[in-house]
Amino acid sequence: MEYRGYDSAGLAVNDGTKIEIAKCKGRLKALSDLTNGGETIQGTSGIGHTRWATHGVPSDTNSHPHYNSNESIAVVHNGIIENYIKIKQRLIDKGYSFQSQTDTEVVVQLLDHYYEGDALAAITKVMTKLEGSYALGIVFNDHPDELFAVRKDSPLIVGVSESGNYIASDVPAILKYTRDVYYIDNGEIVKLTRDNVSFYNSDLEPIEKELKTVAWDISAAEKGGYEHFMLKEIHEQPKAVRDTLNPRIRDNDIVIDELNMNEEDIKNLKKIFIVACGSAYHTGMTGKYVIEDLARIPVEVDLASEFRYRNPILEEGTLTIIISQSGETADSLAALREAKRQGMKVLGIINVVGSSIAREADNVMYTWAGPEIAVATTKAYSTQLSALYLLAMHFAKVRGALPQNEFDTLLQNLRQLPEQIQSILDNNVTQIQYIASKFVAVKECFFIGRGVDYTTALEGSLKLKEISYIHSEAYPAGELKHGPIALIEDGTLVTAILTQEDLYKKTLSNIVEIQSRGALVLAVTNEGNEEAVKVSDIAVYIPVTDKHFTTSLAVIPLQLLSYYVSIGKGLDLDKPRNLAKSVTVE
Ligand code: F6R
Repeated sequence: MEYRGYDSAGLAVNDGTKIEIAKCKGRLKALSDLTNGGETIQGTSGIGHTRWATHGVPSDTNSHPHYNSNESIAVVHNGIIENYIKIKQRLIDKGYSFQSQTDTEVVVQLLDHYYEGDALAAITKVMTKLEGSYALGIVFNDHPDELFAVRKDSPLIVGVSESGNYIASDVPAILKYTRDVYYIDNGEIVKLTRDNVSFYNSDLEPIEKELKTVAWDISAAEKGGYEHFMLKEIHEQPKAVRDTLNPRIRDNDIVIDELNMNEEDIKNLKKIFIVACGSAYHTGMTGKYVIEDLARIPVEVDLASEFRYRNPILEEGTLTIIISQSGETADSLAALREAKRQGMKVLGIINVVGSSIAREADNVMYTWAGPEIAVATTKAYSTQLSALYLLAMHFAKVRGALPQNEFDTLLQNLRQLPEQIQSILDNNVTQIQYIASKFVAVKECFFIGRGVDYTTALEGSLKLKEISYIHSEAYPAGELKHGPIALIEDGTLVTAILTQEDLYKKTLSNIVEIQSRGALVLAVTNEGNEEAVKVSDIAVYIPVTDKHFTTSLAVIPLQLLSYYVSIGKGLDLDKPRNLAKSVTVE
């Protein structure tokens, strides 16, 4: 399961008398060394976990399993408990103490609180208290021959075999032992013994489930059945965006606890610097348009490699935001240090918990994309956008720049993004495969757009060049005529992003200009925009959202396009040439 998380790992095994726990920071190899390949921790039932830190840095203590004070219950968890702070406080008031900074520890302490000998009763009680997502594996010292599991919005499967039964959060973990699996649905609880598996609904009524046989081999299954990590990660975007938004949307408001800025601090903001590299820089560009328009705070966006050496002017009232998936990018880290050297407060928008930038930033707003393996970023990019939308709306509201009714409508649109991304993934793939097949041999590409659409164009162009090695440029549509139009000739592919209704007409006249010079035009536009289809060669439609959030939708067809063009060219797109996932050198 290491591809689902690899910053720490742990085991809890019931040997019939007590629960033995072994866990440590580091890759699975560290746990294997600690337990002599598992030899030192023997028993007949147990749970294991590889972690990708969300709440609390990677450390021995924060590793799963988590357990209660007398080590009679142990739990592993995938997902995020959104109301853990409230629960934790209530438990502390009742005399419980906590060892870790994780959200998961509240689950085991709650189980301890409700357990009176009946494991299933305690589990159902705990389920009513938890908000967020979870797949839980649970062992009780009192039930040495049993294993319990339950899920809500995080995957869970049960594997059955002659030699024992298994729980896992994905198929590859158990393929070595069995291909016979049950897929657990939301709210279902499972009790496993060596020879038996029983399923219950949340009212503890027994339910029947259908046994399925997995057809994949191990290598396909590690990518969840997808041919490449990049495609898997493209498809994980609805969940990644939901996981980033949901914990920060409470009671129809936006609450960003980790920002550590009170109303006064937000009102006193004079300027924001966003500093990042590559795709993270592109999200910063989108952020600039959205923050400036909604919150009316001036935003300057800088490439970290420039910012660090250009002696930027950072004055009182400036907030510096560093955006990075890995949290290890050398230029971004140097930029952070430069901002701090000048006495500025730094907010990190980071995916990897406990990474260098996360540790050195004053405050960190994590993007909950999960581990991103493919070199070309997709889901981390989408979560960075979500984090910036949240900030823009929060700042706008606090500064009185956004009336309540407009805030409510924006929030409604924001909440719909995961479903809308899903609908593009469900409906547009065949069309994009067709378009990609037409453009495999293209030598030259341009991506154009105005306003927010220009920032989407930047990302579309980078994706294409990174994984399909086609030379590609992104330009603001109005800038083409100032030079680049000289390069347009028969067969040049121009992708025009047209999601900003107030700017449609302007970009349409640019399209007519380039078409008359022989370019093929692919339009990515909102459902219902009939004009685009008239002037372009092919149009891809995306669902309608608020104009500030369209990048989140328009980028999906562009990611898919670069993916399928690369496939058409037979390239190793998870590991594109000359590129590394984490750029820790200047
Ligand atoms: C593009 C890509 C890179 C990264 C850039 C920053 O697909 O992955 O452009 O966005 O190297 O990396 P992080 O976000 O780790 O700082």
